Amino acid sequence: MEQQKRYGHFDDQHREYVITDPQTPWPWINYLGNEDFFSLISNTAGGYSFYKDAKFRRITRYRYNNVPMDNGGRYFYIKDGNTVWNPGWKPCKTPLDFYECRHGMSYTRITGHKNGVEASVLFFVPLKKWCEVQKLTLTNQSQEVKRLKLFSFEEWCLWNAATDMENFQRNFSTGEVEIEGSTIYHKTEYRERRNHYAFYHVNTEIQGFDTDRETFVGLYNEFANPDAVMEGKPRNSHAHGWSPIASHYIEVTLQPGESKDFVFLLGYIENEQDKKFSAPQVINKDKAHALIGSLDTTEKVDKAFAELCEYWDALLNIYKVRTGNDKLDRMVNIWNQYQCMVTFNFSRSASFFESGVGRGMGFRDSNQDLVGFVHQIPPRARERIIDIASTQFPDGGCYHQYQPLTKRGNNDIGGGFNDDPCWLIFGTVAYIKETGDFSILDELVPFDNQPGTEVTLFEHLKVSMNHVINNLGPHMLPLIGRADWNDCLNLNCFSWDPNESFQTTENVSEGTKAESLMIAGLFVVTGKEYVALCQKLSSVHRGSASVYETEAERMQQAVDAMIEAVKKHGWDGEWYLRAYDFFGNKIGSNECEEGKIFIESQGWCTMAEIGAEDGMVAKSLDACKKYLECEHGMVLNNPAFSKFIYEYGEISSYPEGYKENAGIFCHNNPWVIIGECLAGRGNDAWNHYAKILPSYVEEKYQTLHKVEPYVNCQMVAGKDAARPGEGKNSWLTGTAAWMWYTVSEFILGIKPDYDGIRIDPCLPETAGDYTVQRKFREAEYNITVHPNGSQKGVKQIVLDGTPIEGSIIPYSVGSHTVEVTM
Ligand code: BGC
Ligand code: NOJ
Repeated sequence: MEQQKRYGHFDDQHREYVITDPQTPWPWINYLGNEDFFSLISNTAGGYSFYKDAKFRRITRYRYNNVPMDNGGRYFYIKDGNTVWNPGWKPCKTPLDFYECRHGMSYTRITGHKNGVEASVLFFVPLKKWCEVQKLTLTNQSQEVKRLKLFSFEEWCLWNAATDMENFQRNFSTGEVEIEGSTIYHKTEYRERRNHYAFYHVNTEIQGFDTDRETFVGLYNEFANPDAVMEGKPRNSHAHGWSPIASHYIEVTLQPGESKDFVFLLGYIENEQDKKFSAPQVINKDKAHALIGSLDTTEKVDKAFAELCEYWDALLNIYKVRTGNDKLDRMVNIWNQYQCMVTFNFSRSASFFESGVGRGMGFRDSNQDLVGFVHQIPPRARERIIDIASTQFPDGGCYHQYQPLTKRGNNDIGGGFNDDPCWLIFGTVAYIKETGDFSILDELVPFDNQPGTEVTLFEHLKVSMNHVINNLGPHMLPLIGRADWNDCLNLNCFSWDPNESFQTTENVSEGTKAESLMIAGLFVVTGKEYVALCQKLSSVHRGSASVYETEAERMQQAVDAMIEAVKKHGWDGEWYLRAYDFFGNKIGSNECEEGKIFIESQGWCTMAEIGAEDGMVAKSLDACKKYLECEHGMVLNNPAFSKFIYEYGEISSYPEGYKENAGIFCHNNPWVIIGECLAGRGNDAWNHYAKILPSYVEEKYQTLHKVEPYVNCQMVAGKDAARPGEGKNSWLTGTAAWMWYTVSEFILGIKPDYDGIRIDPCLPETAGDYTVQRKFREAEYNITVHPNGSQKGVKQIVLDGTPIEGSIIPYSVGSHTVEVTM
């Protein structure tokens, strides 16, 4: 194995990851913004900003998959004599005397030193504001007076990130800007249907500017050596068409020891239709002036930054563990929760692997993301549930995705992913257990966003369950449809045409027998939740209690029938089958040549505890260890497919060891880990968990792993790949929520329930005592667990000095002490 170089380290006290070498194995990024205005920023200040929707409201331009990698961003050029450098090293790549990038909670601070000058830039999006702040501090650390020429740089995207990359015959003739004092306004297409513009401002007088890219850079130059910067002379260019940019030019004199702050603001404004212009062709800048005025001094910016930090303090105070194991504590207390917020906000839209133009919000993805987020800001989770449910169809099926800007179902992808409906139960139940807010079930929610079709959210849950029941195959197992959780198991696709999408093409579906054991397990898990919810509703006498009782009985029967079907037709002897294909042949069976065992059905059927009494669960979990586990986690299937199988679809399109073909799909490892926890096998659960826990990987494999060491990635190359352990597709993955759910509720065992908090840890036998501070509704619980070498099983719980019966701490307002003995 190659020597593992280190590029950075955790700073837990500041909740930061500190990158000390700009040449990381891949750009290591962070996210700025919490609600409407968002930015992606790499450790060399690459990336871009957008308002709400990375496709339709892209504010700055970014070039994906370019050479060099990570090209374009917010760049500060400092010309000191003949040396030109950037605090983040790129794009000039002038060697720095010191470099550091600190990625924190919704902020990034990049610092560079060169020839006695320190340039430190703090990037963040203030709460409730539509702008990115870049506070640049220049300090003269030398003994001489420094006369510096400072150039800022941003490149505008012409709003629609997709057409921006395609339609040049039009694009090159639409660009428009206005310049007013130290503010450069981007107003392309504002004259017609757009009611929005962007601006780039600095809170000081400028000595020049540029807004036309070719004039600033020079046609045969690069970002690394723009003409204007190299010559130290701005061109004061006005963009007309072509590629508008924004660059300020500032002359800065610094006495020895002197420090100066510059506040740069990248803002976004929307105007009402009748207030678009202040004079013919002149944009109405009132809102921009107000936004600028609210952040035009260091003091105002520092205050906004302090508010952001307090916001994160509060969020991360809701669940806090102390185990004495820093690697665990930092993931639970900081990075895992942070990643959950990011995935909740972005779904799978914009990362350095997701271009922001492809996917909207996924029905199944967003429901899963909720489980990692619901404890943080319940009202936002509530809104999300309603948005998701509104894209459902009356028969319980649903759009697979919706667009965040319009909240409408995405017709390009359509529906037919038969696992989707169940996830609505999963997300909604998590919300109610966290908040106790049953009223969400009474909300009137339309189908397919059509006014007049509204039914209660509870009714949506019911049709979700029914969708599975109404779509059973020959073995009474759920029909898979286009795909289940595994988007690449396309059993009705049958495509030989490379121009067809595996996801949306169904060349044959009439007469299909394709059934999914993954959905079967998911149905049992969510069905049990649904039954428990109905029982709960009948006991609190909402409406007619007997209606809920009847519903609970009906669903219990369906769940029981599913369990029987799995035992009878879904068990392969040592593990659960994965599926039946179109023709009724087994997938994921020992009888198969390749793909004998799959992780998804092991995860879901063990979580559902199907056949536990017959030893099925234990056997399945053992099979995962034996056939799926490798050094870096559990692979999705084994053996990997070595050739394309027309009947299976995209799964076998990937070379061995990648993605859905035997990659370590981190998202589904937690399913097996939860299965282990329910079975009480704490040692095994922990071993699987630690293998994909970023902080453990960080310690061992910074170079090999490649992607950010502070968050989970979707896929780590499996044992059959060329470089097992290499990560890809970081940040936007359901892994975040599942890792959180697993560790917070099943390993550490603090599980919200309707009436209180259930305590049921499952730990490795080496675990020591630990404490969890858990804010829960209007209460706060200070829980200490004494494992005493036991992997599972709570012997006694003492609440505020008094022993209680059972494992649920009943909810009551106020602060409580809980002692748990295992
Ligand atoms: C990927 C899946 C992804 C799907 C989305 C496939 O190419 O392998 O992971 O969910 O695309 O459409
Ligand atoms: C990524 C998708 O976002 C998710 O919905 C899917 O379940 C997995 N890939 C597996 O295919």
